[in-house]
Amino acid sequence: MFGPTGYIAWAERLFGKVELDLATSGIPVVNGDALAPIAEAGARRAGDGACYAELRARIAVYNGVPATEVVPALGTTHGIFLAYAALLSPGDELLVEHPGYEPLTRIAEGLGVHVRTFPREPARGFGIDPDVVAGAMTPRTRAVVVTNLQNPTGVRTDDDTIRALARVAGARGAHVIVDEVYAPFDALAEDGVFHGSARNLAPNVVAVGSLTKAYGLGPMRIGWLLAPEPVAARGRDAVVSVAGHLPLVHASFGVAAFDHLPALSARATSLFVGKRAIAEDWANALGLRWSAPSEGLYGLVTVPGAGGKDLLSEIEAHAVETGVLVSAGTFFGVPEGFRLSWASCDEGRFREGLSRLARLPSISASASPPR
Ligand SMILES: Cc1ncc(COP(=O)(O)O)c(C=O)c1O
Repeated sequence: MFGPTGYIAWAERLFGKVELDLATSGIPVVNGDALAPIAEAGARRAGDGACYAELRARIAVYNGVPATEVVPALGTTHGIFLAYAALLSPGDELLVEHPGYEPLTRIAEGLGVHVRTFPREPARGFGIDPDVVAGAMTPRTRAVVVTNLQNPTGVRTDDDTIRALARVAGARGAHVIVDEVYAPFDALAEDGVFHGSARNLAPNVVAVGSLTKAYGLGPMRIGWLLAPEPVAARGRDAVVSVAGHLPLVHASFGVAAFDHLPALSARATSLFVGKRAIAEDWANALGLRWSAPSEGLYGLVTVPGAGGKDLLSEIEAHAVETGVLVSAGTFFGVPEGFRLSWASCDEGRFREGLSRLARLPSISASASPPR
């Protein structure tokens, strides 16, 4: 049975509803004049059944995989669901990274899958240690799931590490699932292609992704599962069982979105470039721990003086008082920290948000010199 996802409920209540949103992790949604050409092209073909196959082909080209390995999905979230539905049965075990994105766990639990975690250690820059994963696997582990860029730290895992992870999983007949929703951020697809899908790294790696976070198309839900053909076929069976088929407008708007990817990439790049260094300088100046992502839209801050204290209520109260919201680490398994995002504010507003955020009681207490 599916239970509530605390993080999503919190995000729906607060994200985008404050003056300075340093919490939302995606490029702001495209609308108005920027959306019009996509919406018009999508609407023109809204009755054209050929769009189903075309969307699949576009997703394949974008990710550099054969179309037979593609299952279109409603965002990365649905891609995760389809990956689990295709690979896992009730009673199986899934190994999830910690800290991590809560839906990776809740979706599995809803499918009757038993979830265990493996650590991504702060002392190792939140990297993945394949030996640690090997030690955490049991004979019941059918898949290992990781995010890349990682949520909430923003840290990238390199191809060799994913290959090593695939070997560790493969030794037990298991798959690796890579959630790539934030992966395009080192080189947004100005040529209309994402050059780094993990699906191409090993036969037992499946990948999920979407055009939601990196291109400002969250509401369009253009996502996918990329998997070896037999797994992709089970993913398609899951779509049929759950929805019959996806809406034709999803396909026609999806094709139009791919046609406009270079422009969407340029827009996204202009919105986030340059702010990561500001965040890093701010965290370092205050003596906070910083996950030090090398790209992307967010990083994880932990407050060394907080002593493991849960900052959730403090973060909420501070948002009401100062209009600045960050993503409480509580929902990622890091209660003494928060995810800091520079996706939503321009540079001036971002700096203003950081200066107000420095007054969060635990940060002020941690940053004050000892008396
Ligand atoms: C790691 C991760 N995967 C997936 C999603 C959801 O992506 P989508 O909107 O494409 O379903 C998010 C959203 O925050 C995320 O952080």
